[in-house]
Amino acid sequence: MCGIVGYNGNRNAAEILLEGLSKLEYRGYDSAGLAVRNGTSDVEVVKAKGRLRVLAEKTNDGKALKGNCGIGHTRWATHGEPSEKNAHPHISDDRNVVGVHNGIIENYQELKEKLLRHQYTFYSNTDTEVAIKLIDYYMKKYQEGPIDSIARAMTRIKGSYALAVMFKEYPEEIYVARKDSPMVIGTKGEETFLASDVPAILKYTRNVYYIGNQQIARLGKGSAEFYDIDREPVELESTEVTWDAEAAEKGGFEHFMIKEIHEQPKAVRDTIASVVKEDSIDLSEAGLSDELLAGVHSVVIVACGSAYHVGLAGQYVMESLAGIPVRVELASEFRYRDPLLDPKDLVIVISQSGETADSLAALRLAKERGIMTLGIVNVVGSSIAREADRTFYTLAGPEIAVATTKAYSAQLIAVYVLAIQLAKVRGKIDAETYRSLIDELQTLPKKMDRVLEDKERIQWFAAKYSNAKDMFFIGRGIDYAISMEGSLKMKEISYVHSEAYAAGELKHGTISLVEDGTLVVGVCTQSRLYEKTLSNMAEVKSRGAYLMGLTSYGNYAIEDTADFTVYIPRTSEYFATSLAIIPLQLLGYYLSVARGLNVDKPRNLAKSVTVE
Ligand code: G6P
Repeated sequence: MCGIVGYNGNRNAAEILLEGLSKLEYRGYDSAGLAVRNGTSDVEVVKAKGRLRVLAEKTNDGKALKGNCGIGHTRWATHGEPSEKNAHPHISDDRNVVGVHNGIIENYQELKEKLLRHQYTFYSNTDTEVAIKLIDYYMKKYQEGPIDSIARAMTRIKGSYALAVMFKEYPEEIYVARKDSPMVIGTKGEETFLASDVPAILKYTRNVYYIGNQQIARLGKGSAEFYDIDREPVELESTEVTWDAEAAEKGGFEHFMIKEIHEQPKAVRDTIASVVKEDSIDLSEAGLSDELLAGVHSVVIVACGSAYHVGLAGQYVMESLAGIPVRVELASEFRYRDPLLDPKDLVIVISQSGETADSLAALRLAKERGIMTLGIVNVVGSSIAREADRTFYTLAGPEIAVATTKAYSAQLIAVYVLAIQLAKVRGKIDAETYRSLIDELQTLPKKMDRVLEDKERIQWFAAKYSNAKDMFFIGRGIDYAISMEGSLKMKEISYVHSEAYAAGELKHGTISLVEDGTLVVGVCTQSRLYEKTLSNMAEVKSRGAYLMGLTSYGNYAIEDTADFTVYIPRTSEYFATSLAIIPLQLLGYYLSVARGLNVDKPRNLAKSVTVE
């Protein structure tokens, strides 16, 4: 939530900042702002409500702002409505400190009252203005420099933050600090860049530092020095970003989402290749030996959003294949109850960004209880990746569209692979079944390509039903997990009210919502449950529903019931989610396009939810 950029070098900062912010708009887009310094002159602050282009127009694409040291921000409102007044950067009363912030300061009311008692005034409703003025307060009170003042503020602030701050008396420097919100710093020659996420600076440098939790950095032109909260210098190693800048560009597609849908076969192929060595699964890079897996008595999967749906699909696969008890929990719920955990549990936190606040808190809770944790994470160097005892990296590459697709698909592979390996070490499958499951896994990318070839039919269907008001997705078993993800895709990008139901549960209430023309998608990939779901589909059809069926080639009897059917290639039923989800992603995508909506940046949502 919220995107931060910074630049300190010899070029015109505002242009670079706007360019960087354009790569971070997926993190928030209700207002934006820049603060730029030119040598010893006063800082210039420009802000605008609305999308980034409003700020770009206001500043003539940054050319109207002179200065080669600056910070920028694109906002996803938490405290205070989207407005120019609440947009960042925020500045202290005498313009001594100016800064931008990503995260939430939980005790900002208490800090504000303290500052009000010391004659500070406030022009916005944001927690950020409080943080900036608190730093200013400590600077004046103790007559110390930026690192000390920031460190003092950090010990008072509760919550999460990534802060980038400039000081009047230090015109050639930017200071940053972070706790539980992401921040990456890059240097090249005489230039330094900072951002909430790598794509914003990749055009300029591949040499990056992931500043640690509760650390502070002083950024000069081409230099970065790091300190801990006790103001002691710390040494950080830089990392070379290996993925291509193009991976974060649209590459000829109209939207990032459709590009990322098409990248799924590659994401899946790469993730499989990273763990399948010579026809067997090798999880040593994730630190998961067979002995260690054999000692696990039950699994608890914790995640948010689509990653939670991966967990639900994974639960069916792991329980049935490996015979191990699996619990799946929403991270926001898990963290605030007193979950029963056993020392022999494995807690798996699934997260694309590795920064989702609730997932991170859940991970920490499990660690505090001394339970072994595994992160299934896409973003290298993210908080969950670093803090989990063990990390399984999905190789989906950078995902930009707010609605996840390829990271979700790569996460599914991670849970399948774990399920197969757990089944092996627990003696639940023989060597032949083990081999055949791995072989089948490796056929998935090609089969996904085949599903994608069918996209025009779905496009046609989506255009025809673009004014749908209500939709239901129904299925049983794994098909219910698929339905949940299909339904989420639909509501998040198409704004169609949509719900997923376990097909057998419809009769207990929901069926009363079905009327003439209600769109219902029936997912039937599981042969054991096929007839059962078909009957439920027939029940809604007889009450007026228009039915889309989703099943595997060969199950043609579905056409007697469904009005429109989409087929996927046959695969092991354990892996059906990987194929069946694609038509549902495409349905959400094309419906959103047909309705003229902003597919990649749906209203009110952000890709990386770093606040709870
Ligand atoms: C947001 C995104 C979803 C994502 C969820 C969890 O809501 O819009 O696409 O599934 O966060 O994110 P994570 O980065 O933890 O996978």
